[in-house]
Order: sequence, then structure tokens, then C-alpha cells
Amino acid sequence: MDREQAWNIVTEFVQSDSLRKHMLSVEFAMRAYADYYGESADSWGLVGLLHDFDWEIHPTLEQHPMEGAPILRERGLGENDVQTVLSHGPLAERVTLRDKSLHAVDELTGLITAVSLVRPSKNIGDVEVKSIRKKWKDKTFAAGVDRDDIEQAVQELDVDLWEFHVPLVLKAMQDHAVELGLNGI
Ligand SMILES: [Fe+2]
Ligand SMILES: [Fe+2]
Repeated sequence: MDREQAWNIVTEFVQSDSLRKHMLSVEFAMRAYADYYGESADSWGLVGLLHDFDWEIHPTLEQHPMEGAPILRERGLGENDVQTVLSHGPLAERVTLRDKSLHAVDELTGLITAVSLVRPSKNIGDVEVKSIRKKWKDKTFAAGVDRDDIEQAVQELDVDLWEFHVPLVLKAMQDHAVELGLNGI
């Protein structure tokens, strides 16, 4: 499956603009991690782009992402890619580096988006790692983002949360600020 086919699936199944942008954010972060590990940015980006495609039709953790998998197979997504999409479910096992990277970036993109949108400029270009760190400590801010879960995911990747992980994901999103609608008002 190529990116265009994946994007067509996203636009077919996801109507929410913010969910589409979340999936794009995860795509860009996954591409950055693929580059870091010397892996295929297209393949890592693809699973990032698709990972929440079924959320609107399967909006519970009993259904998502498991019940989306047959649809992805039907549309021609390779089994390896289906398995990585499945691996981001809360009870799923994360086996490959790609699975672990997806887990580590997924919710962080949401926190970074939230931090960008409370800037007066609403511009991700104005966000620094230290502003994310401040909001990270404020557990009432973007309260749905499970900080402990991200910390654990980052440990599995064996990278440093503040020196490496957050800067990498922030930069990946900043590089695509226009597509993410985070380039200011
Ligand atoms: Fe999900
Ligand atoms: Fe997600």
C-alpha cells in the first residue's frame, strides 16, 4: 500500500479534522524515528498515518484497533503493517522497534498539539522543549495524555525522554506545521 492509498482510507473513515491531523502528526514523528534508526520512512510513516483510522467507527477500546484490522487487510495492507497498527492497542504486545516507536510518539503528539494551541500565536514554531516540560508536569493540562505510559514507552526505546524523544517529535511536527494547521493564526 502506498501513501496515497493510506490517505484515501483516512479521509474515507475519519471525518474529524483534529483526528486526521493527529494521524498526520504520528506519521511525521514515525518518519523521523525511521530515519533515526535507519529504517524505511515510508513504511513507518504508513502505520502512523493509519493507526487510528477506525476510531470513529470503533470508538471504544474493546473495538479499536482490533476490529479495524480486517478492513485494513481487505484494503491490501501487508500483515506486518497490520500487526504494528494492532500493537498500539492498550493491551497489545509491542514487539518490533516500529511498534515501540508508535507507542512512544502516539500520545506525545497530542500533548505537543495542545501546548501549541495555548500559545498566543498558536504556532508550533514558538514551542520549546521547556514549554512542553512545564505542561508535562501540570497533570491537569491535557489530562488525557498518560505521562507514565509515554515514559515507559521511551524506556523501551532506550532513548532519553527530554534530551532526545521530545525534541525529535517536536521537530518532526514543526517541519510540517502547515499541514498540521499549527503554523499560527
Ligand atoms: Fe488508537
Ligand atoms: Fe493515536
